[in-house]
Amino acid sequence: MDTGKQKILIVFYSLGGSLAKVAKEIAKGAKEVEGTEVEIKRVKELVADEVFEKNPRMKRDKEMLEKEFEEAAVEDLIEADGVAIGTPVHFGSFASQIKQYLDQLSPVWLEGKLVNKPVSVFCASGSLHGGEEVALFSLLSPLINFGMIPVGIPYPIQGEGPEFDAGSPFGVVYVTGHGKNRKEFSESDKKVARILGNRLATMTKIIKCGCDSCKVCRSMAQLPSSASAKRGAH
Ligand SMILES: Cc1cc2nc3c(=O)[nH]c(=O)nc-3n(C[C@H](O)[C@H](O)[C@H](O)COP(=O)(O)O)c2cc1C
Repeated sequence: MDTGKQKILIVFYSLGGSLAKVAKEIAKGAKEVEGTEVEIKRVKELVADEVFEKNPRMKRDKEMLEKEFEEAAVEDLIEADGVAIGTPVHFGSFASQIKQYLDQLSPVWLEGKLVNKPVSVFCASGSLHGGEEVALFSLLSPLINFGMIPVGIPYPIQGEGPEFDAGSPFGVVYVTGHGKNRKEFSESDKKVARILGNRLATMTKIIKCGCDSCKVCRSMAQLPSSASAKRGAH
């Protein structure tokens, strides 16, 4: 029975806090859609404690993130109706901490528990052209493998004209800059993040609406009955 309520999970990895800023803005956009509850969580840190002990600023950032955001469990992903996943660009790809979180999902994949769940991706990078789109696409690869439905930001919706200065059609991209050239989290960055959150929540609503008239949502919600049984375990 559809209650009109839905849960969006925003899960991210962050070393320095940039992804947390984007996550909060995506949450605002998602909450604009009626009946949407949002949870923001972080994935487990994999960098060794010694590294943080040697760098007080990194340690402070880690402690702040751990204080503000709970660690995401696999169940959080299963229970959510729609998901946004965020990563820093690390050497032109997505962070290993996110990969580790996703690599726990073999049994979930096997049972098809993420099939037809809408998903959006977001990233932060130090440099423009530092690998943002590659990172977003690499992250989409396992998500599509799970049967999730990618939700991006098409051009006419993204900005007022073709010369947009934030985001990408594939997801939110926040270019943070480095050191003295560090960039603010601009109003355009925030706007793109809110648009993505809103689109994700809207698509989630369409897919789980449970109405009797169109039947599209019902057929989307049904897994092919033999799908999980026929698959072999990894
Ligand atoms: C290990 C590591 C690798 C990185 N590799 C890239 C990269 O390939 N391209 C880039 O533009 N920025 C790179 N960066 C910079 C981060 O993507 C950037 O600082 C981002 O804003 C960090 O997000 P956070 O503050 O949420 O951790 C790297 C940072 C680290 C720590």
